[in-house]
Amino acid sequence: MASSSTFSIILGILQATICLISIARTVTIAHPSPLASEAIAMVESGWWSNYSNNASERCQWPGISCNTAGSIAKINISDVPNIEVGDRFGKLNFTSFPNLVILDLSDRPLGGKIPHQIGDLFALKYLDLSYCGLSGELPSSLGNLTQVEYIDISYNDNINGSIPPQLGNLVNLVSLNLSANSLTGKIPLELGFLSNLVYLDLHSNKVFGPIPFTLYHMTDLEYLYIDDNYLEGSISKNIENFKKISFLSITNNRFTGHIPLALCRLPTLEKIYLDQNQISGSVPPCIGNLSNLEILELDSNLLNGSIPSCLGKLSKLHTLRLDSNLLEGSIPEDICDLANLTSISLYQNKLNGSIPSCLGKLSKLDTLSLGSNLLKSHIPQEICDLAVGSLHLSDNRAEALRCKPRGLERKQEQ
Ligand SMILES: *[C@@H]1O[C@H](CO)[C@@H](O)[C@H](O)[C@H]1NC(C)=O
Ligand SMILES: *[C@@H]1O[C@H](CO)[C@@H](O)[C@H](O)[C@H]1NC(C)=O
Ligand SMILES: *[C@@H]1O[C@H](CO)[C@@H](O)[C@H](O)[C@H]1NC(C)=O
Ligand SMILES: *[C@@H]1O[C@H](CO)[C@@H](O)[C@H](O)[C@H]1NC(C)=O
Ligand SMILES: *[C@@H]1O[C@H](CO)[C@@H](O)[C@H](O)[C@H]1NC(C)=O
Ligand SMILES: *[C@@H]1O[C@H](CO)[C@@H](O)[C@H](O)[C@H]1NC(C)=O
Ligand SMILES: *[C@@H]1O[C@H](CO)[C@@H](O)[C@H](O)[C@H]1NC(C)=O
Ligand SMILES: *[C@@H]1O[C@H](CO)[C@@H](O)[C@H](O)[C@H]1NC(C)=O
Ligand SMILES: *[C@@H]1O[C@H](CO)[C@@H](O)[C@H](O)[C@H]1NC(C)=O
Ligand SMILES: *[C@@H]1O[C@H](CO)[C@@H](O)[C@H](O)[C@H]1NC(C)=O
Ligand SMILES: *[C@@H]1O[C@H](CO)[C@@H](O)[C@H](O)[C@H]1NC(C)=O
Repeated sequence: MASSSTFSIILGILQATICLISIARTVTIAHPSPLASEAIAMVESGWWSNYSNNASERCQWPGISCNTAGSIAKINISDVPNIEVGDRFGKLNFTSFPNLVILDLSDRPLGGKIPHQIGDLFALKYLDLSYCGLSGELPSSLGNLTQVEYIDISYNDNINGSIPPQLGNLVNLVSLNLSANSLTGKIPLELGFLSNLVYLDLHSNKVFGPIPFTLYHMTDLEYLYIDDNYLEGSISKNIENFKKISFLSITNNRFTGHIPLALCRLPTLEKIYLDQNQISGSVPPCIGNLSNLEILELDSNLLNGSIPSCLGKLSKLHTLRLDSNLLEGSIPEDICDLANLTSISLYQNKLNGSIPSCLGKLSKLDTLSLGSNLLKSHIPQEICDLAVGSLHLSDNRAEALRCKPRGLERKQEQ
C-alpha cells in the first residue's frame, strides 16, 4: 500500500515535470528572447533589405544605434539613402523594441496612417515623424508613450481627425509639434495636464473653439504657436501664468475681446503676434513694460484709441506692426527713441497730424509704411534723406505719401 502510493506520487511529480518542460518549450518557441524578437522584427520590416539581411549585424545597419546590451536604442533613417519605407511603416513590429528611445523617420515618405502599435514603444523618448506624408487620424495609443519627451508629427498635411485627449497622459512631454496638418476639433482640455511642456506648436491646422482654460496651467511654456486655425474667444487674463513665455503667436484665428492687461506682466516676452484676428479695444499702455520685446505685431484687428507713447520704452523692439486697425490720434514721437527699429507699419488706420521728422534718426529702418491714414501727406526731409539710402517707403494701400523729388539719385519704391 505504502509503496504503491509512493510510486503514484513519484509518477505524479514526473508527469508534472514533463508537463512543465513541454510548457517551457512551447513558451520558448512562441516567445523568442527579446533580442531574437528584435532581430526578427528588423529583418521582417524589410526596411534595410538594400543593406543586409544578416540580423546579427543589425547594430551596424545604417541609422541604427544599440545600447551596451546589444538592443536597439535608436532608429534614425531620416538621412539614410536607399531606404524606402513607403507603405511598410506598419511592417515594423513595434512590440519587439522594448529599449527603443529614439525614432526619427522625418523626411521619409511613409504614406498611410501612423500604426496603432506605435504605442507599444514603451521606452520611447523622442519621436519625429515630420514631413512623412502621413494621413488619417493620430492613434490614441500615442498616449501610451509615457516616457516620451519630444513629439514632432508636423508637416504631414493630411493627418486629420482631432487631437487625441490621451496625449494629456504624456506628463514627461517637453515639446509637442503637430503643426501643418489637417487636425480638426477642439484643443482637448487634457493637453493642459502637460505640466512640463515648453513648446506647443499647433499652427496651420483646422482646430476651432476657445483655448481651453486648462492650457493656462502650463507654467513652463516658453513657446506657444497656434497660428492659422479657427480658434475663437478671448485671451484669458490667466495668460499671466505663462511666467517663462517668450514667443506667443495666435495670428490668423477668430479671437475677439481685448488685449488683456495681464500680458504686461510677462517680462520674458520677446515676440508677440496677435495679428489677423478681431481683437478690439485699445493697445494697453502697460505694454511698454515688456522690456525684452523685439517684435510686436497687432495688425489686422479692430484696435482703436491712440498709439501709446510708452511703446518708446521698448528699447529692443525691431518690428512694430499696428497697420489695418482703427487707431487714431498722432504718431507718438517717443517711437523715435527705438534705435533698433527696422520696420514700422502703421498703414490703414485713422492716424492724423504730421509725420514726426525725428523718425529720420532711425538709421536701421528699412520699412516705413504709413499710407491710408489721415496724415499730412508731406514726408519730412529727414525721412526722405534716409530713403536715399535703403529705406523702403512702402505705401501698401491707395493713398500715396511721397518725398518731394529732388535729384535723380532719389530712390523711391512703391
Ligand atoms: C552574419 O554576421 C555574423 C556576425 O558578423 C557572422 O558571423 C555571420 O557569418 C554572418 N552570417 C551570414 C550568413 O553572412
Ligand atoms: C537623425 O539624423 C539626422 C541626419 O544625420 C540628424 O540631423 C538628426 O539630428 C538625427 N536625429 C536625432 C534625433 O538624433
Ligand atoms: C532599394 O534602393 C532602390 C534604389 O534607391 C529603391 O528603388 C528601393 O525602393 C530600395 N528598397 C528598399 C526596400 O528600400
Ligand atoms: C511581434 O513581436 C512579438 C514579440 O516581440 C510577437 O509576439 C508578435 O507575434 C509579433 N507580431 C507579428 C505580427 O509578427
Ligand atoms: C494603449 O492605448 C490604447 C488606446 O488608448 C488602450 O486601449 C490600450 O489599453 C493601451 N495599452 C496599454 C498596454 O496600455
Ligand atoms: C481623414 O482622411 C481620410 C482620407 O485620408 C478619410 O477617409 C477620413 O474620413 C478622414 N477622417 C476625418 C475624421 O476627417
Ligand atoms: C516642431 O517644433 C519643435 C519645437 O518648437 C521644433 O524644434 C521643430 O523644428 C519643429 N518641427 C519642424 C518640422 O519645424
Ligand atoms: C507697468 O507700467 C505701468 C505704466 O504704464 C506702471 O504703472 C506699472 O507699475 C508697470 N507694471 C509693472 C509690473 O512693471
Ligand atoms: C473703442 O471701441 C470700443 C468698442 O469696441 C468702444 O467702446 C470704445 O469707446 C472705443 N474707444 C475709443 C477710444 O474710441
Ligand atoms: C538694441 O537691442 C540690443 C539687444 O538686442 C540692446 O542691447 C540695445 O541696447 C538696443 N539698442 C538700443 C539703442 O536700445
Ligand atoms: C486727430 O484726431 C484726434 C482724435 O481722433 C483729434 O482729437 C485731434 O484733434 C486730431 N488732430 C488733428 C491735428 O487733426
